Amino acid sequence: MTRIAIFASGSGSNAQNIAEYFADKNEFSISLILANKPDAYVLNRAKNLNIPSFVFTNKEFQTSEIVINKLKEHKIDFIVLAGFLLKVPSNLINAFNNKIVNIHPALLPNYGGKGMYGMNVHNSVIENKETESGITIHYVNENYDEGQIIFQAKTLITPNDDAESLASKIHILEYKYFPEIIEGAIRG
Ligand code: GRF
Repeated sequence: MTRIAIFASGSGSNAQNIAEYFADKNEFSISLILANKPDAYVLNRAKNLNIPSFVFTNKEFQTSEIVINKLKEHKIDFIVLAGFLLKVPSNLINAFNNKIVNIHPALLPNYGGKGMYGMNVHNSVIENKETESGITIHYVNENYDEGQIIFQAKTLITPNDDAESLASKIHILEYKYFPEIIEGAIRG
């Protein structure tokens, strides 16, 4: 049984989608959902999904073992970042070497790095009149959005698109591909 933890900072629609995908796969368990904000809606989703959750502060995450200890307590084998906005500290990277994946709502290496999250990404893509965007799923290292890329999917951008319509197109790709790419990464 592979026990998976999901980290999120906000709504958690991807976290819910992933939990629903794995719900009937008895080789996997979404065993813990973690957030760095006590008011993150993902915590409501965890409660509704009957998945244990854990909230931590940015300071605790960066300077203590409290999160790693919680992951060990739940016997976590694999970590998924799904809308998680903090840089992962090296103690966690080292404890879960090549076992942390992230999804970014653009075609890395473009439109990545510090500050490039959520609507900031889509606004930049539209402002630059890109004709396509997409998602990138990658392993996580010490730097924002720089780990080995596992998968990318693209969507075309039409002149009628704005940041909001692009965000919707990106979410469709995320919900379609992220769970199966996670499963593939775990199976190796
Ligand atoms: C998604 O667009 C994801 O690509 C990015 O943050 C957003 C999270 O959305 N990393 P949600 O919290 O899963 O709804």
